[in-house]
Amino acid sequence: MPSTPPSDATPFLPEHGDLESLRHAAESCRGCDLWERATQTVFGDGPPSARIVLVGEQPGDQEDKEGQPFVGPAGRLLDRALEDAGIDRDTAYLTNAVKHFRWKATGGWRRIHEKPNRRQVRACRPWLDSELAAIDPAVVVALGATAAQSLMGPGIRVTRDRGVPLPWDPIKFVVVTIHPSSILRAKDQDREQAYDGLVADLRVAAGMVG
Ligand code: URA
Ligand code: SF4
Repeated sequence: MPSTPPSDATPFLPEHGDLESLRHAAESCRGCDLWERATQTVFGDGPPSARIVLVGEQPGDQEDKEGQPFVGPAGRLLDRALEDAGIDRDTAYLTNAVKHFRWKATGGWRRIHEKPNRRQVRACRPWLDSELAAIDPAVVVALGATAAQSLMGPGIRVTRDRGVPLPWDPIKFVVVTIHPSSILRAKDQDREQAYDGLVADLRVAAGMVG
């Protein structure tokens, strides 16, 4: 009989929920099947005192190799958008809805990003919840649909719900926006407007932390 893959990170959570304990424990998470083909866990990065937490989807190819979130092309674009929105990256905490890189091979050596499925997102959610509980930020920015749905449930729609503070318990507010990768994928003539939209949404979050 085929066995169902595990789908809950909870058994791997540490007893003490400070960020360093969480990060250490997440290194050996086997809460879903994604650890098997990834290089390492990519946990969040930033100070425990952060007032803004930004949540992406999952690490990409470069993040998987380096073990840090948002260090590849999407991260560079995000850095620029944060700066344009008046948010100092070093004072924000960056993480992902899913902590291992999901990819598929497409002939040759290239690993192509594959969206995590709902079960994997749900499995990984305890890590995100624990990070948010440890940091207790004033606002969480969900970058793209995967992060938005992990936090707000399947009813959230990025295009409809973006750029406004949505009340959320236990953290005060979530601001939903597009994922920086979608700007990299946009057609040339759409890219500038998409970028400006991201910056505008990030400014909303920036305004909430003074
Ligand atoms: N995309 C994400 O969602 N997260 C990363 O860390 C990198 C790219
Ligand atoms: Fe654990 Fe999340 Fe990695 Fe799955 S993706 S093994 S739940 S850390």
